[in-house]
This record gives sequence, structure tokens and C-alpha cells, in this order.
Amino acid sequence: MRLRGRKGIREELERQSDLVILDPKQYKGRWSEFFGNDHPIHVELGMGKGKFISELSFRNPEVNYIGVDMYDELIRRGAEKARKFRVENGQPEEPENLALALLNIEHISEVFAEGEVERIYLNFSDPWPKKKHARRRLTHRGFLLKYKGFLNEWGQIHLKTDSRSLFEFSLNSFADMGLWMRNISLDLHGEGLREDLVLTEYESKFVEQGINIHRCEVLIGDRALEEHRRSLQEQSV
Ligand SMILES: C[S@@+](CC[C@H](N)C(=O)[O-])C[C@H]1O[C@@H](n2cnc3c(N)ncnc32)[C@H](O)[C@@H]1O
Repeated sequence: MRLRGRKGIREELERQSDLVILDPKQYKGRWSEFFGNDHPIHVELGMGKGKFISELSFRNPEVNYIGVDMYDELIRRGAEKARKFRVENGQPEEPENLALALLNIEHISEVFAEGEVERIYLNFSDPWPKKKHARRRLTHRGFLLKYKGFLNEWGQIHLKTDSRSLFEFSLNSFADMGLWMRNISLDLHGEGLREDLVLTEYESKFVEQGINIHRCEVLIGDRALEEHRRSLQEQSV
């Protein structure tokens, strides 16, 4: 993604401390204080321009959302988008259940304490196709171990990608760690646009171009897994 940051962007972001977190490590274990409630926390890692997380936070006020990206210009655009989206939909400008955090995901363990997060969204993460860069893929075992450290008993990872190679790599990585996958799709919008799911910026472009989207959900937390097994048993009776 090519980005030309604006002059004075840091000052602009510092003025938005209601929404933008420039030093997210300070909230480790204290995110409920930031949001002022104990609602579950869902995180998008690599949020880009923030359309997905803005829309989700608007749709689900009972969930707290955190969008993470390493570029301040994307955080700025994400904040602008989130406020605009709310105003256009007749809500007050300030999203109470959303935070946009400037962070390199490599340091994610320094931002969340054990059991602090319920769901991680990985949307169109960089595929890092070269083998020598495999460790940088966000579904590499090294990252999955970090995620397991802060996902709670209901913890899940939801992955969407256009990259067949990243999807294959990810499924193997989940399986090698003994993680349970469900709702695996190789062509998410094959039977028409899934209106129950919020589309990301990248996803909208790919769908327009007729590119298949792959998706799956991974169950990490014990209770998420128990609940899923129970529902499978009920279906089989
Ligand atoms: C291909 S874009 C996808 C954006 C968005 N999720 C979407 O689907 O439209 C990947 C995003 O991940 C961010 N990203 C990649 N590696 C990252 C890292 N190590 N830490 C934080 N953000 C990262 C990039 O800045 C970029 O915004």
C-alpha cells in the first residue's frame, strides 16, 4: 500500500485521544478502562483504511472494537472514516466502542493481557509469498502462539483472504497446532454477496474483479469449542 503521510499528522492524531491510541501498550490489561465497560473486545489486525472496523462497531454497539495498523496515515484515515460513517447514519460523531491503535503487530503481546480479547479478524493480510518470509505471515505459528496468549475462553480467529497460498499455509498452520476450523469457504461470495458479513476495502475491489475470497473461522477458546461441538451433536440427532 503506497502512503504519503501528511505534515502535522502526529499532532492531528494526538488531538483524537478519544479514538486514536498512539501508545497502545499503556492499556495492556486495562482496555475495559479505556472503553468504560466490560464488553467483549474484537480486534482487526491490519485494518487498512478502517471501513470494516468502522461498520462493525456501528452495527454492534455491545462489542468493543480495536483496529490495529502500523501506518499513522491509515490510522488518520480510519478515524476520519469512522466519524463520517456515524454522522451519515444519524449517530453522534464519537464512536464509544472503537479504538484505532498504531502498532506493529509483531508487538501485539505487549498490548493485550491474558484473556483480554474475544476475537481476532485477519482480513487480507499481506501474503508474504516468498518462503524466506514465511515467519512474517500473520498466521505463522509464532503469531498464533502470541494470539493464544491473549484470546479468552470464547476466543476465535476469523480469516479472509484472496490469496490461495496464504489460505493453504494458514489452514496447515492451524491444523499443525491442533486448532478446530469451521465455516471454511473457498468462494465466500460465490452464491451472491454475503450481506450478513461486512466487506473490507480490499474485499470490495476483489469481488468487483471476480476474484474468489477464501474464509474460515478458527476456534481457540475452550468454551467456543464446547459450544460448537454441542451444536454439531444437536444437528446430528
Ligand atoms: C492488504 S492490507 C488489508 C487492509 C484491510 N484489512 C482490508 O481488508 O481492506 C494489509 C494491512 O495490514 C497492515 N499491516 C501489515 N503488516 C502489519 C504489521 N506488522 N503491523 C501492523 N499493520 C500491518 C498494512 O499497513 C495494511 O494496512
